[in-house]
Amino acid sequence: MPYLEIRDLTVSYDKNQPTLERFSLNVEQGELLSLLGPSGCGKTTTLRSVAGFIRPDAGQIVINDHDYTRLPPNQRDIGLVFQSYALFPHLTVFYNVAFGLRMRRIPKKEVKERVTNALKMVGLEAFANRRPAQLSGGQQQRVALARATVIEPQVLLLDEPLSNLDARLRVDMRQEIRRLQQQLGITTLYVTHDQVEAMSISDRVVVMNQGEIEQIGTPEDIFAAPETVFVADFMGFDNHFNAAVESVQDSKLTVTWGGAPIELRWHSKFGSPPSGARAEIFFRADSASLLAGTEASGLAGEVILHTFHGNEVQYLVETDLGEFSIMQDSDSERFAPGAAVTVQAHTQKWIAILEETAARRVTGEKNDRAQAKY
Ligand SMILES: Nc1ncnc2c1ncn2[C@@H]1O[C@H](COP(=O)(O)OP(=O)(O)OP(=O)(O)O)[C@@H](O)[C@H]1O
Ligand SMILES: [Mg+2]
Repeated sequence: MPYLEIRDLTVSYDKNQPTLERFSLNVEQGELLSLLGPSGCGKTTTLRSVAGFIRPDAGQIVINDHDYTRLPPNQRDIGLVFQSYALFPHLTVFYNVAFGLRMRRIPKKEVKERVTNALKMVGLEAFANRRPAQLSGGQQQRVALARATVIEPQVLLLDEPLSNLDARLRVDMRQEIRRLQQQLGITTLYVTHDQVEAMSISDRVVVMNQGEIEQIGTPEDIFAAPETVFVADFMGFDNHFNAAVESVQDSKLTVTWGGAPIELRWHSKFGSPPSGARAEIFFRADSASLLAGTEASGLAGEVILHTFHGNEVQYLVETDLGEFSIMQDSDSERFAPGAAVTVQAHTQKWIAILEETAARRVTGEKNDRAQAKY
């Protein structure tokens, strides 16, 4: 049974256009689930609803089988770090972190011990007597993290908790959050824009787009096997082209590349498209290579542009299937603009998304929902 359930949640700031409409999501006990998606897709709205700062139009928030939907925020056993990490300006760092423990009437000695440990974790034990105004943005963010975790809540909600930290501290802190979360077994919803952060910290990742879930899965699944055009694009599959399906057989889908057939991974859960069905094929810049001249084994192209990146050179290559961005090791043969090349497909990491599936996701689901409303 899931520990945190968001059931059919509808939230509208503007009555005509709900930000979330019948949004559902389950988080297992002790799981760290990330919400990943572009600005404005509804990540903070989801978190604020779970915390109780937004009263939804419809739907339920259920934690450990108890209906929290009508419970005020201060009665929910939830630790929060919000995007704007409001600290109490008149309290010192120590008392900011101690706040939740004092509310819970924890004995003084234990408060001191737990606050000291929490401040150690975020590297701020020397700052206990400062006030928030005397700290940098990143330091304030770390105080907010200590304050959220020190109460060892049932559920932890983190909304871009590392956004104000420099690159090095971000990596340290995300490992620290993961360690603490696992050690205490806290069920956690983690919001981020940053793919790498989501991949490295999560048990599962949810990719959101305009208030809807595009895909939910392990970091490996989301990275390697996007199921929608949006997720493929968001996960950095820089190149795509449209192709006719030749055949589907034994978990392989065949399309034509240059003069020859190439085989891509195919999962039977996506059905068995007839030959001639259209698919969008996606691949990353590092899943193809260039050979000099025109070979029978690939797709003919012409180099348009090259950019040196240190270990790699990035080429923009024009072909009959469109322009592709292709990364090559900088030790390999170099090509100047205008050079005739052959693009070879390394299809192990390529993916195919049927056009029909893409269209159904965009129009069909909305229609279903519209019908259900009336
Ligand atoms: N208080 C509000 N009043 C009106 N509209 C709001 C309010 N808060 C959010 N919105 C709108 O709801 C949508 C979702 O906002 P939300 O803050 O949930 O996005 P987000 O995914 O957290 O984005 P970001 O990554 O930029 O933080 C946006 O279009 C936003 O403009
Ligand atoms: Mg937000």
